[in-house]
Amino acid sequence: MTTRLTILGGGAMGTACAMLLAEQPHQQVSIWVRDQDQATEIQSTRENRRFLPGCKLNDNIFITSDIHVAINHCDYLVLAIPCQFLRQSLQLVRNSLPEAVPVISVIKGVENGTFQRPSQIVTEILGPRSVAILSGPSHAEELAHRLPATVVASSEDLELACRVQQMFSTERFRIYTNADTLGVEYAGALKNVIAIACGICDGLGFGDNAKSALMTRGLVEMQRFGVYFGGHPMTFTGLAGMGDLITTCVSPYGRNRKVGFRLGSGESISDILHSMEGVAEGVATSKSVAEIALRHRLDLPIMQQVYEVLFCGKTPQKATMALLERPPRS
Ligand code: 13P
Repeated sequence: MTTRLTILGGGAMGTACAMLLAEQPHQQVSIWVRDQDQATEIQSTRENRRFLPGCKLNDNIFITSDIHVAINHCDYLVLAIPCQFLRQSLQLVRNSLPEAVPVISVIKGVENGTFQRPSQIVTEILGPRSVAILSGPSHAEELAHRLPATVVASSEDLELACRVQQMFSTERFRIYTNADTLGVEYAGALKNVIAIACGICDGLGFGDNAKSALMTRGLVEMQRFGVYFGGHPMTFTGLAGMGDLITTCVSPYGRNRKVGFRLGSGESISDILHSMEGVAEGVATSKSVAEIALRHRLDLPIMQQVYEVLFCGKTPQKATMALLERPPRS
């Protein structure tokens, strides 16, 4: 029987998800791309030249800029749009998406202002329904080239998590299930902030010792934050936490790391954001995290310094000193 999946978002991750899903011939995939010219180009050339050049799309992938055509008769909705645009995109389908259609999010961010996770935005806009999160070390470029990767499918509805596992699995894409959606979503969002810190470290030429320290202490901050709000500690040492943290902090593809690298090399954040392709979610997430940390008195020194570099004009050098000059701790 044919399963119809609709992906909202034609960036690198949305396209890579379509390619994984389309490996199973009984799965028909539609991608909604906001820009009409871009949608037409991808549909006719069978390639997303802007975000995944050189990767051919299977015949069972259809691309459209008409969101109602995209979601028509869909069995599952997959969300692959930046977190700050999620709410407005879901508004477009709120009256036409049947309640029974489960939603799968691959978004790694926290909404500014509301501090909501993607799954919370989904249920607020679309009403109560089953939601799953697919997260872990999964650079779209590597997935699209069919390099081996492993992630988690997380849902309070374990049956949905198992279906997501089946639908996305390929010979080279292995999926574990997990019930801690809160932990998985926070881990995916927070690792982006630490990746910016690691990029700054690389841009400043600080070497591997400093970067390992940032990753290790950054993981402690991710876990402290997530556990405070009810996440399971082990989620943060698993694929969605440590696994994705490593990939995002070391990979040359990482958008968040690239933002940090350019900051550490002396560029301004406005120049970086104006010239970059795609969205580095960690920038907006660092703002939410700093506000949440202040409100709940959470001690997150690395994430705080990233926020101050991004939003308060602090230099990367001063942020480094602020971290190193903190009183010794046991
Ligand atoms: P970036 O957005 O930094 O490229 O991270 C991608 C990612 O989440 C890999 O798992």
